Amino acid sequence: MKNVYVNTIGCQMNVYDSELMIKILKPLGYVQIDSIKKADLIIINTCSIREKAAEKTFSYLGRIAQAKKEKPDQIVVVTGCVAQNLGKEITRRAPYVDIVLGTRVLGRLPEYVKKVSEKRDRIIDIEMTEGFDEIKGYEEPKETKVSKFVTIMRGCDNYCNYCVVPYVRGREISREPESIINEIKSLIDGGTKEITLLGQNVNSYGLKENLCSFPELLHKIKNIDGLERIRFATSHPKDLSDNLIEAFKNIDKLCDNFHLPVQSGSNNVLKGMNRKYTREIYIERIIKLRSVRPDISITSDIIVGFPGESEEDFNDTLLLLKEIEFDSLFAFKYSDRSVAPASKFKNKIEEDVKTDRLARLNELQNEISKKKNIIYEERVEKVLVESLSKRQSTEISEDIKLKQWMGRTSSNKIVNFNHTEDDLIGRTIEVKIEKARANSLWGISTN
Ligand code: 5AD
Ligand code: SF4
Repeated sequence: MKNVYVNTIGCQMNVYDSELMIKILKPLGYVQIDSIKKADLIIINTCSIREKAAEKTFSYLGRIAQAKKEKPDQIVVVTGCVAQNLGKEITRRAPYVDIVLGTRVLGRLPEYVKKVSEKRDRIIDIEMTEGFDEIKGYEEPKETKVSKFVTIMRGCDNYCNYCVVPYVRGREISREPESIINEIKSLIDGGTKEITLLGQNVNSYGLKENLCSFPELLHKIKNIDGLERIRFATSHPKDLSDNLIEAFKNIDKLCDNFHLPVQSGSNNVLKGMNRKYTREIYIERIIKLRSVRPDISITSDIIVGFPGESEEDFNDTLLLLKEIEFDSLFAFKYSDRSVAPASKFKNKIEEDVKTDRLARLNELQNEISKKKNIIYEERVEKVLVESLSKRQSTEISEDIKLKQWMGRTSSNKIVNFNHTEDDLIGRTIEVKIEKARANSLWGISTN
């Protein structure tokens, strides 16, 4: 038996890819552990969406250098977006890295690990394959988590002017529906109840390859026995079709949540970003979604301080927040990515202006999020239990110990609640919401 340690930086796609790598290394005898020191193999799955994330790779590699001094036969793999983008630089700055693996060739990892362990060698493979890189020959673990990601697409063809993804993840490509369905079925066999379908722009799923449309895929997936909840991320507003909105009417398993990144509330900025929709179109799509599912929670991404963003443009974003009332937001300061066109744009915004705008935006959103959460107070919500809460048990008398559980509503709100039962993981429990907090809800179970 050999040990593998994986550090995953970045998005849900990377979480999925890391788990995939662990599964395909299993036939070589690798078992995942939590200790860098004891690891025979270290995998760093990197992110380069913003400068800060990319920097993490190099500071982390510094730590690996220390570990490797004590255990020189450790094999070090760097994969993910930084590997794809800066493959050669990684090996120059960190000569102890054995394998640099691009984002489109993950399936080749076992072969490379074998090669390196037999004969110390360095391998750099950042080929941008065109197909989906379907990886076969692995088994799902016998027991899986309640909620799992399933990647249905890779890459992106949208070329937003600020974004590195098309350059580090390659052209958009969709996975065959049968393969997706088989993976979901085996996850369900292991105990999974909820899946999140992943792609950079799921709404264009299957169109290029003439497979089936995303709403059609949802209709196929909804029939899988034992699957209780379906989520997906991410959608591009320009491709949010009426058919997908219609699916929210017809598919009960589709959760009450839609993550629809708007990026900015200003039409000038949206144009500069190459987003191909206007603020008005975005608002119209949200109104339509809400007309089909009044309780749907809407979440979004915002970039502040894109080159040329004036105070008036930023104000348009604040006004959009007030108009839409998102349930929550992921907001970021614009970060130059050298391969993306916006890095060459003039009128860059000063760092302190970006910091100030981000703080003002978050302050407004916090108020809105609180208001949106308070609506839940006194309501009874169906909560799919994922795990024990961080704060575990509360003693109310000598013989009654209440365990504290964590789950999510269909609208993706985190709910913590007490229950006397020993194991609720994977069960859907009705919880009366007693208290809304900024980022979670607190309740008591009614069954
Ligand atoms: N700077 C800041 N934020 C970015 N994002 C993507 N590229 C950049 C960048 N260069 C944000 C977008 C996207 C989210 C995943 O990351 O909001 O939706
Ligand atoms: Fe990046 Fe735009 Fe593609 Fe999203 S849609 S991954 S922001 S290029």
